[in-house]
Amino acid sequence: MKTTILKDLEKEDIEKVGVALQKGELVAIPTETVYGLAANGLDENAIQKIYEAKGRPSDNPLILHVSSMEEVEPLVKEITPTAKQLMEAFWPGPLTLTLLKSDSVPDRVTGGLNRVAVRCPSHPVARKVIRAAGVPLAAPSANLSGKPSPTTAEAVYEALAGRLPYIVDGGPCKVGIESTVIEVGTDEVTILRPGAVTASMLEEMGLRVHIDAALCKGSGAPKAPGMKYTHYAPDAPMTTLMGERKQIVRYLLQKLQEEEKKHALEKRRALSFFIHESTAEILQREYSGKIVYRVYTYGDVVGVNDIAHVLYQTLLQMNHEKVSEIYAEGISSGDGVLAIMNRLEKASGGRVIMV
Ligand code: TXA
Ligand code: MG
Repeated sequence: MKTTILKDLEKEDIEKVGVALQKGELVAIPTETVYGLAANGLDENAIQKIYEAKGRPSDNPLILHVSSMEEVEPLVKEITPTAKQLMEAFWPGPLTLTLLKSDSVPDRVTGGLNRVAVRCPSHPVARKVIRAAGVPLAAPSANLSGKPSPTTAEAVYEALAGRLPYIVDGGPCKVGIESTVIEVGTDEVTILRPGAVTASMLEEMGLRVHIDAALCKGSGAPKAPGMKYTHYAPDAPMTTLMGERKQIVRYLLQKLQEEEKKHALEKRRALSFFIHESTAEILQREYSGKIVYRVYTYGDVVGVNDIAHVLYQTLLQMNHEKVSEIYAEGISSGDGVLAIMNRLEKASGGRVIMV
């Protein structure tokens, strides 16, 4: 199948994409978080195509994307007062709510669970496409299962070309990591997947906020089935380092010295570091050996959003550059630390070490 990237959508393009979705085709769409691989969320056959294109385990449920709160009504038993309050505060935006599903949602969407996940993205192109399709769109991240999520149309093309007719290009995603997923109760919510909408933002709404136990300990069965799978993994083995900057630099220096001993000068693949700008500067000052290493900094601001913004893009770039081994500098504080550390831990296959 030929895959076309559609840029600067004209009215006819939007209509064309809407018709393709109604007919049960797959279309990749931009959202403010990451690109989504969309299909008609009420059509079992279309949903099946998503699982096949991504190589996704069939027990991992999908999020239904809508363009307004009203569109949620037929999909759920009830929009509870707490759900309504959350939708009013955070929609459109990077917050996904799980609510008790109605019979009109196919089991294929929820993997047999009694709740359905719903989200209203803020990206204007996503909203136009949802309206043109006239149905809720099931849309997981538009990557092959287990790989980093795409934040540009080019990254979607690279991952899925040949598996879908259209990729809608809406530019680079602003947030860069997937939405916060919460289970909504009465006056309380449970975070199943951390994201840009943080626990403290939810607490400010006067809600009690729980964090799914599986997120805290890295053990137990997570309530969001997707959280149990390896995710976001770059091609090279990755390790996340926690600790003071001084110790992190010392650890990286030691790695570089080990490489020297291995005669790594002849190797074409490089060690690579995803670290804070200040860490990179100290390392550069202190390392005088001959090993070539690559540094991808996440800037000199420790704002969690700055890291989110470049995270997947950097992991995909490392794949391109065929690096041999990746060391990332973790963070231990700041609003949204849970969201970043969740992604780093998963991308590292659980290898997070204190140095
Ligand atoms: O930002 C996002 O949410 C992106 C964009 C495209 O909207 N979508 C996305 O979808 O990340 P996906 O399929 O890659 O991740 C959905 C997550 C998975 O961890 C899944 O297990 C969880 O949401 N989920 C979906 N439905 C659920 C349900 N009914 N109960 C609990 N968890 C659910
Ligand atoms: Mg995903």
